[in-house]
Amino acid sequence: MTNPEIERIKTALPGWVEAGKPFASEGKVASYIPELSKAPKEALGIALISKDGETIAAGDADLSFTMQSISKVFTLILALMDNGEELVFSKVGMEPTGDNFNSMLKLELVRPGIPFNPLINAGAITVSSLIEGADAADKSARILHFFKELAANDCLDYDMAVYRSESETGDLNRSMAYLLKDNGVLNGSVDDVLDVYFRHCSINVRCADLARMALVLACDGTDPLTGQTLIPRRYVQIAKTFMTTCGMYNASGEFAIQVGLPAKSGVSGGILTLVPGRFGIGIVGPALNAKGNSRAGVRLLETMSQELDWSMF
Ligand code: DON
Repeated sequence: MTNPEIERIKTALPGWVEAGKPFASEGKVASYIPELSKAPKEALGIALISKDGETIAAGDADLSFTMQSISKVFTLILALMDNGEELVFSKVGMEPTGDNFNSMLKLELVRPGIPFNPLINAGAITVSSLIEGADAADKSARILHFFKELAANDCLDYDMAVYRSESETGDLNRSMAYLLKDNGVLNGSVDDVLDVYFRHCSINVRCADLARMALVLACDGTDPLTGQTLIPRRYVQIAKTFMTTCGMYNASGEFAIQVGLPAKSGVSGGILTLVPGRFGIGIVGPALNAKGNSRAGVRLLETMSQELDWSMF
């Protein structure tokens, strides 16, 4: 039986992507991690996977890129699976900050000095320290294994050039980690925690990988294509709530109004989003707006949400 929504998307998607592409010229490719500056500025690609396994892709969907902050959603879920809610939320809060993703302002200003939420850099570095494992290498291996399961792609791996580029230049994150350690939030070696963090940020994906990971969230933790439950429903609920309130950083309110879907962006230009119960979606568009979100990617999602009446609100 044909699904009219899927048929509509198949017909209209190439045009929506073409209409979104020019918006990339308003954005800038991230360069504070030097290796990221090599990404093609004008690119825009998207892949959607429906709960019945239908994949629709358009534009530069085959471009590979690093997950960056998108990985934070899934390390949070793994930390919750490893430690439970009580421990995780004794170390990170549940509130948006209104600040930039790499700000450490509130760590000093607001007592008790724990990160406001797990999706800002300070929060995600803290979450990395909560992943179970014998050492940093073991923790990273567990994260990569979990991501491979969620993406149903055994070939996922690190982009070592991006990993090295961030390790060599990540002094702001390093200073944040030391402050967190002094605040009693991080235990153990700062270098080890940052190694886990930089590695999961540098996991290489394509739009279809993000779409498949998002589909698991869209279906409350069960991969509808294998029937396997990969995440407890409660942790999916927590992750989707953070995506809605903090996933697009200090543009999350605007995104909730204009698009109205849980989403997470990364500084390499990726966006992972989902339509509850229906689709997982992965997007790439390396040129970023001033808040660090893909300029053309956000525009494409605004169009799709309006055309397909996708807002949850
Ligand atoms: O820690 C960083 O700065 C990067 N590895 C990730 C930041 C990021 O993706 C923020 N995205 N908008």
